[in-house]
Amino acid sequence: MAIKWCIIGAGGIADRRTIPAIVKDERCRLTAVMDKSPETAKRIGEKYNVPYFCDEAEMLENTDCDAVYIGTPVACHYDQAMTVLRFGKHLFMEKPVAMTANESKAIVDAFKQAGKQITIGYMMKYHNLHEQARKIVAEDGIGNVSDVRAQFSCWYPDIAGAWRQKKALGGGGAIMDLGVHCIELIEYVLNEEIVDVKSFYSTKTFSYEVEDGGVIIFKTKSGVLGHIDVNFNIPDNASESKFELYGEKGYVICKGTLGQEETGTLSHLYAPQGDYSAQQNRTVSEPQTFVGAGNDLYQKQIALFCQTLASGKPDYFYADRAVHVQEIIDKIYNEN
Ligand SMILES: NC(=O)c1ccc[n+]([C@@H]2O[C@H](COP(=O)([O-])OP(=O)(O)OC[C@H]3O[C@@H](n4cnc5c(N)ncnc54)[C@H](O)[C@@H]3O)[C@@H](O)[C@H]2O)c1
Repeated sequence: MAIKWCIIGAGGIADRRTIPAIVKDERCRLTAVMDKSPETAKRIGEKYNVPYFCDEAEMLENTDCDAVYIGTPVACHYDQAMTVLRFGKHLFMEKPVAMTANESKAIVDAFKQAGKQITIGYMMKYHNLHEQARKIVAEDGIGNVSDVRAQFSCWYPDIAGAWRQKKALGGGGAIMDLGVHCIELIEYVLNEEIVDVKSFYSTKTFSYEVEDGGVIIFKTKSGVLGHIDVNFNIPDNASESKFELYGEKGYVICKGTLGQEETGTLSHLYAPQGDYSAQQNRTVSEPQTFVGAGNDLYQKQIALFCQTLASGKPDYFYADRAVHVQEIIDKIYNEN
């Protein structure tokens, strides 16, 4: 039997990525869409030939569905997630979970208590090269990891009315929007938690109230050190979108993998060095290079969500990880 889906917030990433992923999955059926903007609701409803609404409760009262996707501004997530739960539905919601760690934990705890699935849209961990990076680390392919760096950016100039540029609607700027992806991914690839963070951030280039650039430095439980650079203020073509891991036996360097597509490359160098050499002669070793598989990360997310529902056993592992990301974000904004 098909999983019947309703959409809350149909215009942005929902229209570009998630609804296409839902309709392509043969286990899924789109049954209704809702958007606060009447034009968007109508446009997307007509595009998929399904009923459309401008109020989420009205949609859920009048539509037979099993699961709901939320793709709205962050400030809407808490109330809308709780509405979805009130109607007894499973939820797939965009990142970040909510405005604060407390709100995020309250949402995830409520879904756990009700035995309903909740999944948060951190899709970068499903990139084949990030899965490979995790495997290389787990299999001692770069030895004891010491250092991690990530650079992720998206050109985002002043736009009148943009919710991401307002603290009250987005909860923050480049760190809240882009940094969360990096934190989630780094913890996934290392398979361990970040336990301490410090950060600098500023609004240097544009005139909106949230930060247009941020630097986060961190330490993991085992002592891996790292930093994350996130920017709204460097051109996309000038950003290397790099994700690097260094260890005592080599490196993994991903280029062009941080983003919405399964593109880019991964270079893996395995070059254990042995004893200290006073001559400091550096021999050049060649890395092995792998390429992105080009699959649809959003389809992978929907497929996993369907599998979890089919198993009849909700899985909260990554929802809990997403709450932890939010704890780190709270620390950054409250302590720096
Ligand atoms: N995982 C990813 O790749 C990815 C990429 C982009 C955005 N996102 C996340 O998706 C969410 C939405 O971002 P976006 O870029 O699509 O934003 P957007 O502004 O492009 O689209 C948001 C849509 O929600 C609608 N909306 C606004 N308030 C609403 C409300 N109260 N109820 C119903 N609809 C409402 C808007 O009219 C618009 O159609 C955010 O949480 C963002 O962080 C995730």
